[in-house]
Amino acid sequence: MKGSNVKKLLSSHDQLSADEYLSLRGEKYNLCNIIASRLSLNSSHVVLDIGCGPGQNSNRFREITSAEVIGVDLDIKRVRHAKGLWKNISFMHADVAALPVEANSINAVTSMISFHRFINKQQALKEMGRVLKPNGKIAIATTTAEKLKRRVDFQMFPSALSFECNRFGSAEEIVKLLKISGYKNICIEDFSDYICNVDEGFMSWVKSKPFSIFRHISEKEFEMGLNKLQELILLTGSSLPHYDDYTLIFGEYDNG
Ligand SMILES: C[S@@+](CC[C@H](N)C(=O)[O-])C[C@H]1O[C@@H](n2cnc3c(N)ncnc32)[C@H](O)[C@@H]1O
Repeated sequence: MKGSNVKKLLSSHDQLSADEYLSLRGEKYNLCNIIASRLSLNSSHVVLDIGCGPGQNSNRFREITSAEVIGVDLDIKRVRHAKGLWKNISFMHADVAALPVEANSINAVTSMISFHRFINKQQALKEMGRVLKPNGKIAIATTTAEKLKRRVDFQMFPSALSFECNRFGSAEEIVKLLKISGYKNICIEDFSDYICNVDEGFMSWVKSKPFSIFRHISEKEFEMGLNKLQELILLTGSSLPHYDDYTLIFGEYDNG
């Protein structure tokens, strides 16, 4: 693929370097455990972690299950970074819509907070189906507009919230796409991970703009949001819990 097309596919607002991504967003340990268990991953399996970014969750899958994990990402810088960090995993620089992987060779594919970034989602699902073995499994970890609206960090910045709500949409939309792309036994599970309380530490995290979209809103809106957050912390005495909420969607490819 030409460099200019890759740039177009990597949405222009993704401004976090692999290093920043790791330090600000990090590994999703509990989420990986749930997915590994629902997919019954084990050491005989080959797993593609698509949109793996710096590979921290690919590494976690490998550690939990001893499966062979291959991370795939469209961003060459993140792939290079991942290769430098995790030696027990192979990483590929590729687009989900054209995977350089043999048909019927993979036991499970995971998409950890990357599905919203795939431009042609139906093509992506078909391509994942092509590489899956008969009845191979898929796990999509994402969020939804409904969940984003409940997040304290996003509530502070209305234009970021509205942008992300449009981008993530609903779980039902993904289920519909899975069905028309040939997946069966689809189920949805909500997962909520307690992270911290909404306190000064949370405030510093938000100040570091941990989501790319926070780097695209105006400085004025950002300042106003931080002031609102400070008021909330004073009002609640730092007792408000902050959760990372995910929607997990599981399915099997019906290539029988
Ligand atoms: C929000 S990051 C998630 C990273 C990691 N999975 C995690 O859980 O932290 C989304 C990743 O999807 C990748 N991505 C976007 N479009 C892609 C595509 N068409 N094919 C493969 N990866 C893609 C981006 O480069 C980015 O690294």
